[in-house]
Amino acid sequence: MRLFSLPPRSARRASFGLAGRFALVVSALSLLSGCDFNFWRMDGPQSTIDVAGPVAHSQLQVFYTTVWVTLTIFVLVAAVLTYATFKFRARSDADEHAEPPEQSHGNPLVELGLIGASVLALVIIAVPTLRGIWFTYDVPEAEKENAYHVTAQGYQWWFRFEYNNEQIENVGQLTTSNELVIPAGRPVRIDLRGMDVIHSFWVPRLAGKVDMIPNRANHLWLKADEPGYFWGQCAEYCGDSHAVMRFRVIALAPREFNEWLEQQTSAARAVQAVAGAEQTKAQFASYRTDWKRNEAGYDPNFDLNPLENWKQKQFPEKNENPALVAKGRELFQAKTCFSCHVVRGHFVGGSAAYPDLTHFGSRTTVGAGLLENNSEQLARWLRHPNEVKPGNKMWTEGYQKNNIHLTEDDIGALVAYLESLK
Ligand code: CUA
Repeated sequence: MRLFSLPPRSARRASFGLAGRFALVVSALSLLSGCDFNFWRMDGPQSTIDVAGPVAHSQLQVFYTTVWVTLTIFVLVAAVLTYATFKFRARSDADEHAEPPEQSHGNPLVELGLIGASVLALVIIAVPTLRGIWFTYDVPEAEKENAYHVTAQGYQWWFRFEYNNEQIENVGQLTTSNELVIPAGRPVRIDLRGMDVIHSFWVPRLAGKVDMIPNRANHLWLKADEPGYFWGQCAEYCGDSHAVMRFRVIALAPREFNEWLEQQTSAARAVQAVAGAEQTKAQFASYRTDWKRNEAGYDPNFDLNPLENWKQKQFPEKNENPALVAKGRELFQAKTCFSCHVVRGHFVGGSAAYPDLTHFGSRTTVGAGLLENNSEQLARWLRHPNEVKPGNKMWTEGYQKNNIHLTEDDIGALVAYLESLK
């Protein structure tokens, strides 16, 4: 598509001199750095170069093969072009006005050679590509027995994870939201479902992308070589808040994974209100109402060691206020939160179409991987979910339809209750 039309040649020469070209280069560079100041770095949390498992590794190999083949072609063509440009340039005024030399009409040897070279280049790309497609399609036969099974469902705009093999009595399978905890070193087969529109499952450092399509059974597999904390992202445009439909994958060593399963399959933790305890207000040092969208939802320290931070989230908060927690639990019912969200052991009236909050306090993120799960960010989310994630159902189906209004005290109590759910 042409975005602009060039002025006539003479005018262009005048306006597009050395200064113009310099300005163009400078603005192109500043645009590049505008994307990310460290745009040349390749080890961000969603890097497809800094891979951490065999599936992403295989995808990276295909990428490198393609890059090397195309780079070789680029260098060869550029070299021939440069050589011809200099060798046959006009050296004098006579050259400028000379008749063009006699034109040749094809050289069978050169043409056959070029066809052969093109075929060879395509074969070099095709072989690892096909091998990659077969390898990434499903868990290799030799590892199938050892594979762990999970179902991932995409909703506007969050992820639900079902642990097909972890049955809870009188409840069904274990369900979590937005954080997928897997055993490290073990292949994980993930069945993918779109529950409303088409989404796409992508954990750049581990595997992806595969679409989550309503009424279609897609799947992928992945393996994390080592324990780690990985970022995931919906990779198919799915409406207003597609860009903020994120998730996390946490890979744990086998023993820790089993401990986690044990904790998760049990009901939500219940904090007993201490009789006569003072009903203190929530103490938020930095209550803010001037949040701008796209403002970072993370403490910079969090990402220095996310896996350690995740582990700490598994334990009860240090300065928990039992009375406030109890008040929050009452509000969870009074404000009708329970009619959408399940808290196993406390409230069972919720629906599968909304995030299960049974162990919400043990997750590191709020709002599908968008904000860090701490009191400040959770309060921000509860105060005005639509400002954080435009169009989300907690706002449209919850706050707006049920006319929910929360005071700052309500928010403080709800935060305390939700953070106590370990
Ligand atoms: Cu879901 Cu984009």
